[in-house]
Amino acid sequence: KPIFILNGPNLNLLGKREPEIYGHETLDDLKAVCEAKAKTFGLGVDFRQSNHEGDLITWIQEARENASGLIVNAGALTHTSVGLLDALLAVPVPSLEVHLSNVFAREPFRQHSYISKGVEGVICGLGPKGYELAIEALAAMIGEGGK
Ligand code: DQA
Repeated sequence: KPIFILNGPNLNLLGKREPEIYGHETLDDLKAVCEAKAKTFGLGVDFRQSNHEGDLITWIQEARENASGLIVNAGALTHTSVGLLDALLAVPVPSLEVHLSNVFAREPFRQHSYISKGVEGVICGLGPKGYELAIEALAAMIGEGGK
C-alpha cells in the first residue's frame, strides 16, 4: 500500500504564494521530491491537494483501508478543524503532521493545532525537507508494524 501525502487549502499556490514564507518550489516540485524519497524506502506515494475540508476528511478515511501511512499538511485547517482531528483519530496507520513554515514563529493563531492530538508526530519549519524527513520517519514506523 502507498503512503498518502495530503495537502490542504492554498497549497496549490505553492511557489507563487508568499514565497518569502513558503519558498519558490511548486506543489509539483514537492510531489517529485516526495516520490523520489519514498522510492528509496520502497514506498509508493499518493500525493493529493484540496481546498475543501470534506475532501481531506474523505481521503483520511480512505487511508484507513488503502494507505500504509499518512502525512498531512492541512494548511489553515490545522488551526480550525475538529473534523480533521476526528478523522485522524480513526486512522489505524501511522500519521504525521507537516508544515513548511515554522508555525511557532508566526502569528499566535498558527501556534495551536487541532490535529496534533491525532498524529504520532509533527515536523515544521524545514520547508520541503520536512516532508522528506516525515517520509523517512514514516518508513521506519511502518517497518515497526504501525501504531
Ligand atoms: C502551513 C502553515 C499554516 O498556518 C498555513 O495556513 C498554511 C501552510 C505550512 O505548511 O507552513 O496554509 O500549513
